[in-house]
This record gives sequence, structure tokens and C-alpha cells, in this order.
Amino acid sequence: MTIGIVGAGQLGRMLALAGYPLGLDFLFLDRSADVPAAVLAPVVAGEFTDRALLRRLARRCEVLSFDWENISVSALRVATRGLRTRLSPPLRALATGQDRLAEKRLFERLRIPTTRYATVGSRAALERACAQIGLPGVLKTRRLGYDGKGQALVRRRADIGAAWEALGGVPLLYEEFIDFELEVSALGTRALDGSEALYPLTRNWHAGGMLRLSVAPWEAPGLERQARAHLRAVLRDFSYVGTLALEFFVRRGRLIANELAPRVHNSGHWTIEGAVTSQFENHLRAIAGLPLGRTAATGHAAMVNLIGRMPPAAAVLAQPGVHLHDYGKSERPGRKLGHCTLVAASAAERDRRARKLLRALAQSLSPAQAQAGAP
Ligand SMILES: Nc1ncnc2c1ncn2[C@@H]1O[C@H](COP(=O)(O)OP(=O)(O)O)[C@@H](O)[C@H]1O
Ligand SMILES: [Mg+2]
Repeated sequence: MTIGIVGAGQLGRMLALAGYPLGLDFLFLDRSADVPAAVLAPVVAGEFTDRALLRRLARRCEVLSFDWENISVSALRVATRGLRTRLSPPLRALATGQDRLAEKRLFERLRIPTTRYATVGSRAALERACAQIGLPGVLKTRRLGYDGKGQALVRRRADIGAAWEALGGVPLLYEEFIDFELEVSALGTRALDGSEALYPLTRNWHAGGMLRLSVAPWEAPGLERQARAHLRAVLRDFSYVGTLALEFFVRRGRLIANELAPRVHNSGHWTIEGAVTSQFENHLRAIAGLPLGRTAATGHAAMVNLIGRMPPAAAVLAQPGVHLHDYGKSERPGRKLGHCTLVAASAAERDRRARKLLRALAQSLSPAQAQAGAP
């Protein structure tokens, strides 16, 4: 069976790596052929909005999926019309995941607590939103934001002008700043027959809007129960097929939904080594119409993102039990280039080894080391 994937980034690459053992074949579409998944499968190069190209892709595969949500819903709909090719996850989930307002409305409809917000279309509307929702707050583009891009923090009234200058001109959303205790994500997969496989709760640390570190299982039974209920509600509402992630803030022990991703998610990369079945394999099992695999954690995992600069492989692999995933991308500040994972026997051991790994990574990338020509 051939799986077509729109987008051939690191998520597509890890999907293909998980899919070949299952006997699946892959075909990608991306804007360039120089993309992380290109070493694994053919890449059709062209625009995500090119209907003829999407249709050609759709004709060549049994199932069409995507590894990136900033693609054209209407082009995908038209491209698959009249074909037997199945589109998974469903377009409604993709459309919702593309628009922060649609996400908020979904959360509200499903009674999932989310941040207070107001839509913003003008500078005057931003002034009103700040007065109504309060300060501090975060101004976000409704569409196309990722890794903290398309956001501006509004600490005080004096910041309003700069925030508007930075982001104005496209539909925006202003929301309260959440002084959270922690951030967690809930990941799960729903199969064609409606069966569900939910992963243990993951705790995430971001800096500058980008995920840096995840650990799982995050043992907080009350939070996990709430998160699973919310995740199930979303999966069922969409009649979802595939893997989906929900991101939450935690304030005073309560979950506040931040956003959703209708795809495999960075905070679930630990599942490759740390769960019985990875989020990638379960996504593929789901969209291929196969039974889902177990999601139990095999230990206590930590996942560290490698951003901007790639440490020497030897420095990472010298850490006992650490796995390296190099996405094959060129270095650029703020770019996700890879990640590494470790799995420990206890949460305490995981935290100790994760701290050691973070120190080793910092050291291997420090200018002093580079100047000395150290490996
Ligand atoms: N309203 C908020 N209050 C506090 N922190 C926020 C808020 N919105 C975003 N952040 C921080 O920025 C990160 C990225 O924002 P998010 O809305 O998830 O956008 P992206 O699509 O870039 O991941 C969050 O994980 C969180 O750490
Ligand atoms: Mg996010």
C-alpha cells in the first residue's frame, strides 16, 4: 500500500522510517526535493496549492495524509474528489488545526477550558481586546504560526503599538497570558474502526516559543484523566483517523487547552524508543486501516530537541543509552535539526540523565570547544 504524504519534513521522514517495516510505501509532495524525507522516498516537487499535482499524488496512493498543517484544505478536497484515495486525518481536523479561532471554538463547543481571547482585525480592536481580556496577553496570527512564530507578548499598554506593527494586516487573536505552572500534551491515535490508543501524559518545556524538552510519562493521574477525556472528545468529534496532539497549560492544577495538532507531534517523539508503539507507527496503522499498537511507556523517557546547531554525533552518542535522530537539515538559527531521546528505569534516573545530557549538549556546542577544535 502506498501512503502519500503532503509535506516531507522530519515528521514525514519519521513516518516513512516507521512505515517500511509494516510493508508500506511512501510518496511525498513538498515545495523542494531537498527535504528531510527525500532520502527515504520519492518527492514530487511543487506548491501545496497545486491541484493538478495533488491529484497526481492522490492517484498514485491508497491513502493521502500530511505532515504539516499549513497546506490548502480546498486544494486537497478538490484533488481527491471522485477518487478512491482515502484522506486521513479528516479535512475538518486539518481546517480546525490551521486556524486558532476554529480551535478555540472547538474547545468551547466541547467544553474544554481554553484561554480567554478576542479576535483582532485592527489596531483599535487590539486596544479593545487588551482592555477586555486584560494584560499581559499574547497576540497571535490566526494562521501559519508555528514554533512561536507569529506571536507577540503584550506586557503593558505601551507594547500594543509594537505588537500591532509586528503582526497587523492579517487576522489575529489576542489571548490572556497564562502564568502556568507547567505545560503538558496529550497524544493519541484513533483507528478507522473507532478504536483509540492514548499515550501517557507528556510534560513539555518551551523557550522562545519552541519545544526544548519533553518527558513522559508525566505522572499526574488527575491531569492525565482530564487530558484523556478532552483528547477523546476531540478525536470523536472529528471521527478522527490518525494521531492527534492537544497542548495544554496547567494553572492551579487545571488544564487550559492551548492548541491542537492534527498530526504526529514533536512532544511525542519520545514514543519511538519510549513506548511499545510509536506515534508514527500508530498514525500509519490508523490511516492504513490496521489495528493500533499498544501505547504503554517502556520506561521513563526524555526527549531533547536539537535546535539551530547540530552537536557532533559522537558527543551525543557518548552518553550511555542516548539515541540520536538527525533530520539531515542544514543548520540555521531557530531551526529544528534533530532530537535525542533517553529511556530510564525511574523518573529520578531520567531527570538525572536528562540534566547530564543537556550539560553535555551545551558543552559540545560551546564556542570555547569549537575554537579548541574539540570533537
Ligand atoms: N497565552 C499564553 N500564555 C503563556 N504562554 C504562552 C501563551 N501562548 C503561547 N505561550 C507559549 O508559547 C508556546 C508556543 O505557543 P503556541 O500557541 O503553542 O504556538 P505554536 O503554534 O508556535 O506552537 C507555548 O507552548 C507556550 O510556552
Ligand atoms: Mg504549540
